[in-house]
Amino acid sequence: MQLDVEITGKQFESAAGERHDVLTGIKFSLRAGEVGVFVGPSGCGKSTMLKILAGLDHDYRGKVSRPAAGRLGMVFQEPRLLPWRSVEDNVRLAAPDIDRARLSELFSVLELTAHRSHYPGELSLGLARRVALARAFAVEPDFLILDEPLASLDDALAARLREEIATLVGGRSMITLLVTHNLDDAVRLGDRLFLLSARPARILADLPIPLPRGARGEAEIAAIKASIVRRTNGEPAERDAHR
Ligand SMILES: Nc1ncnc2c1ncn2[C@@H]1O[C@H](COP(=O)(O)OP(=O)(O)OP(=O)(O)O)[C@@H](O)[C@H]1O
Ligand SMILES: [Mg+2]
Repeated sequence: MQLDVEITGKQFESAAGERHDVLTGIKFSLRAGEVGVFVGPSGCGKSTMLKILAGLDHDYRGKVSRPAAGRLGMVFQEPRLLPWRSVEDNVRLAAPDIDRARLSELFSVLELTAHRSHYPGELSLGLARRVALARAFAVEPDFLILDEPLASLDDALAARLREEIATLVGGRSMITLLVTHNLDDAVRLGDRLFLLSARPARILADLPIPLPRGARGEAEIAAIKASIVRRTNGEPAERDAHR
């Protein structure tokens, strides 16, 4: 199972009828078991890219070969829950075959047990994001796409959910794509770090993150972060990012 991506162009048309480029040079491959993390300035085209990779947008130039038979789990940047369904039903609709114990476990880990019968309109943004995570995990995905899943959560909960994502990723042979603005999350969860330019986004740097995820202790994580900052500071990638 492999993801092969080559997006040479993606444009949007503004309300005034002008076309503008959003993506240009996005070329990479990921194998099963790998986590690709994307970091780039706000508005550069990250969510647009993820929607193309999920197969939700076909209006682009290039070629994307996605894992053929796999199940897709996706956490959009906005939680996108069905407002007329309870928290539990939102998850069950995506994963009708999930067993009771696994569903309870997911709600427990994501601290949603007290909210199972609530409706999306009664949730804070952070709670709604957790429901979106529960829904993505519940489908037992082969291809997992996470668009800033830990935004608007407090530090302690974000750290717990990051561990949960790491456990899920470690326990299944899937391909994971994660967009984050947080270098700490990137280095703790990723195998490859892709730095994107300002719009139109292209890949400025493709940095392997050394050591298997489980072998990265706090000292290693600090060293990897420092080396990434060193590698990007003042190097062409960083200068290009500000062109
Ligand atoms: N449906 C659309 N129609 C027109 N323009 C769009 C559409 N969706 C996104 N854009 C534009 O494309 C560009 C990239 O948007 P996108 O949401 O992909 O950025 P992003 O990198 O995810 O940003 P952020 O970090 O803020 O989430 C922006 O300029 C945005 O205004
Ligand atoms: Mg986005």
